[in-house]
Amino acid sequence: MAKNNSILSAAVCLLGLCSIPVSADGRGPGFEKSCRNLEKTVKSKNVKPLFSELVSAGTQLVVPDLDASCQNSTTVPVDICRLSLNVTTSATSDVLMEVWLPKDWSGRFMATGNGGIAGCVDYASLSYGASLGFATTGSNNGHSGQNGTRFLNNLEVIKDYSYRAITTSAAVGKDVTAKFYRKAHKKAYYLGCSTGGRQGFKMAQDFPEIFDGIVAGAPAFNFQGLMAWSGRFHTIISAVGPDGVPPPSSWAAIDAELLAQCDHLDGAVDGILEDPSMCNFRPEALICKPGDTTGANATCITGKQADTVRQFLSPLYGLNGTYLYPRLEPAPGFMPFIAGAYTAQQFLYTDHWYKYALYNDPNLDTSNLGPEQWDYAYKNDPTGVRTYSGDLSKLASRGAKVLHYHGLEDILISSASSNRYYDLVSRTMSMSSSELDNFYRYFRVSGMSHCRGGSGASVIGNNFQQDGSLDPTENVLMAMVKWVEEGVAPEAVIGSRVVDGKTDYKRIHCKYPLRNVLGFNGDPKNPEDWTCTL
Ligand SMILES: *[C@@H]1O[C@H](CO)[C@@H](O)[C@H](O)[C@H]1NC(C)=O
Ligand SMILES: *[C@@H]1O[C@H](CO)[C@@H](O)[C@H](O)[C@H]1NC(C)=O
Ligand SMILES: *[C@@H]1O[C@H](CO)[C@@H](O)[C@H](O)[C@H]1NC(C)=O
Ligand SMILES: *[C@@H]1O[C@H](CO)[C@@H](O)[C@H](O)[C@H]1NC(C)=O
Ligand SMILES: *[C@@H]1O[C@H](CO)[C@@H](O)[C@H](O)[C@H]1NC(C)=O
Repeated sequence: MAKNNSILSAAVCLLGLCSIPVSADGRGPGFEKSCRNLEKTVKSKNVKPLFSELVSAGTQLVVPDLDASCQNSTTVPVDICRLSLNVTTSATSDVLMEVWLPKDWSGRFMATGNGGIAGCVDYASLSYGASLGFATTGSNNGHSGQNGTRFLNNLEVIKDYSYRAITTSAAVGKDVTAKFYRKAHKKAYYLGCSTGGRQGFKMAQDFPEIFDGIVAGAPAFNFQGLMAWSGRFHTIISAVGPDGVPPPSSWAAIDAELLAQCDHLDGAVDGILEDPSMCNFRPEALICKPGDTTGANATCITGKQADTVRQFLSPLYGLNGTYLYPRLEPAPGFMPFIAGAYTAQQFLYTDHWYKYALYNDPNLDTSNLGPEQWDYAYKNDPTGVRTYSGDLSKLASRGAKVLHYHGLEDILISSASSNRYYDLVSRTMSMSSSELDNFYRYFRVSGMSHCRGGSGASVIGNNFQQDGSLDPTENVLMAMVKWVEEGVAPEAVIGSRVVDGKTDYKRIHCKYPLRNVLGFNGDPKNPEDWTCTL
C-alpha cells in the first residue's frame, strides 16, 4: 500500500471517520484500529468474541480467572492483536480460544495443542508462534482446568477433547486471520506435544485437509491403551505393598546399574541412552548379598522388589493376551518418577477418564482397573479418541507433512508407543521408510523427558526456549516450514544441551528406524563423531 495513502487515511481516521484496513503484513496504522474492530468483524451465531486488545512486546501477560490448574502468565514477545473467543460447538459444549495476530506477520497460520487431560490454553505456545510471525491460535480444548469432570454424561465435551476443539479453533482462527490481515494465510501449521501430539495425529489421520505441516511430539495416541497403562502403575504398587517397591535409598543404585548395563550400547558412556529399545535391563543384578544393608536404607533390592521393577518395565496385555501398550523404555530416574506419580492414589488422568468419560460414574473405584475395564474402554472408545489409525494416505496424497518426535527419557508416555505407531503406519500403508519419508518422519530424541527437559541435548525448537536456535536443522518447527514451503525435508534433528544459558554440546537425533552410534574413540560432545545407523 502506498505510503501517502496510509498517511492520508490515518489523518482521516483521527477524525473518527474511517476504518483503516490493516496492510497485508499487519504493519501500518491500521493495526490498532483493526484490532479494536475485530470483535465486530468476526462475531457470528456460534462465535462470541469476549475481547480484543493490543499487547505490546515485552508485556508480562497475566490472564485472570483461569482455573488454578492452568498456567496463567507468559511474556508476550512481539506486538500482537489478541482476540479471545467463546465458540459454541454444540448445544452442550463450547471452546474458549484465543488468536494472537502478530504485527509482523509471516503469512503463516498455526494452531497449537494442549497437555494432559487438557482444559488450559497453552500460552507459551501462543507466544512462541507469534514470536515467529505465525498468526497463532490455542484453545482450552473444550473444558476449563486440568481435570475430566466435564466429560460426565457429555459426549460433546469428549468430542471437543478428541478433535473438535482443534478443527474448530483452526477454522475460526483461519477466518479471523483472513479478516484481520485482509488476506488468506499461505500455509497452515500445527504444533503440539503429549495430548497435543495426539491431537496432531488425529488431524493427520482423520482431518488431513486442515494443516500443511504437523509437528507432533510424545503423542498420547493409542489413548485407551495409554490410560490403561498409566493406571497400571498404581495397581502394581498397591498390590505389592510398601516393602515390594524399591526404597528411595536404592534409586541411585538402580540408575547406576541401568547405565552400567545399557549406557555403552550406543558407543558412548555418557549417561544417555541413544536407543533404550536395545536395553534389556536386568534388575536381579541389584539383589542384596549377605551383609548388605537392608530395609529403609538399602541400596540393594529384594527379589520381590526386582519383580516389581520388571512389572514396571513390561508391556500391558489385555483380555486373552491382547497386546495393548508397549513397555516403559528404561531411563535413569524412572523409579522416583513412578513412585512420585503413581503411589498415593490412582493417576488423575486415568481416574477421571474411567469415571467421567467411560463409565459415567463419579464413584467408580479406579484403583484396580484390569482387563475387563480396559476391554470396555477399547470397545467404547468415545468419539474415536483412541487416535490409532495407521492410514495416512489422505494426508500423503494432498502433500501435507508430519514431523513426529519423542523424548527417549519420557516416563509419562513411553517412546516405544511412537516406534510402534510408525511401524503400524509402515505396515498399514505397505510402505518402506524411504516411501514414508515423503510425508512422515519420526525422530527419537535422546536425553529428552516428557516434551522438554531431560539429561541430554533436548532443545529442538518444539517449544519456546530462550536459547533455542531458529535454524531449521536445529528447530523442528522451522524444519517443518522448510519442508512444506521449500520441499527440503529434515534428515535429522540437531538438539542442543543448554546449561545456564550456554550450549554445552549439540547432538544429532536420528530418523527412525535409524539409531545413533558413536564412532570408535569418538567424542560424545562432537556431533560429527556420531552416525545414524540401522
Ligand atoms: C496466576 O496464577 C498464580 C499461580 O497459580 C496465582 O497465584 C495468581 O493469583 C494467578 N493470577 C491471576 C490474576 O489469576
Ligand atoms: C461460553 O458460552 C457458553 C454457552 O453460551 C456459556 O455457557 C459459557 O459460560 C461461556 N463461557 C465463557 C467463559 O464466557
Ligand atoms: C475439577 O475442576 C473443576 C474446575 O476447576 C473444579 O471445580 C473441581 O473441583 C475439580 N474436580 C476434581 C475432582 O478435581
Ligand atoms: C537410615 O539412615 C539414617 C541416616 O543415616 C538413620 O538415621 C536411620 O536410623 C536409618 N534407618 C534404618 C531403618 O536403618
Ligand atoms: C477372550 O476369550 C473369551 C473366551 O474364549 C471370548 O469369549 C472373548 O470374546 C475373548 N475376548 C477378546 C477381547 O478376545
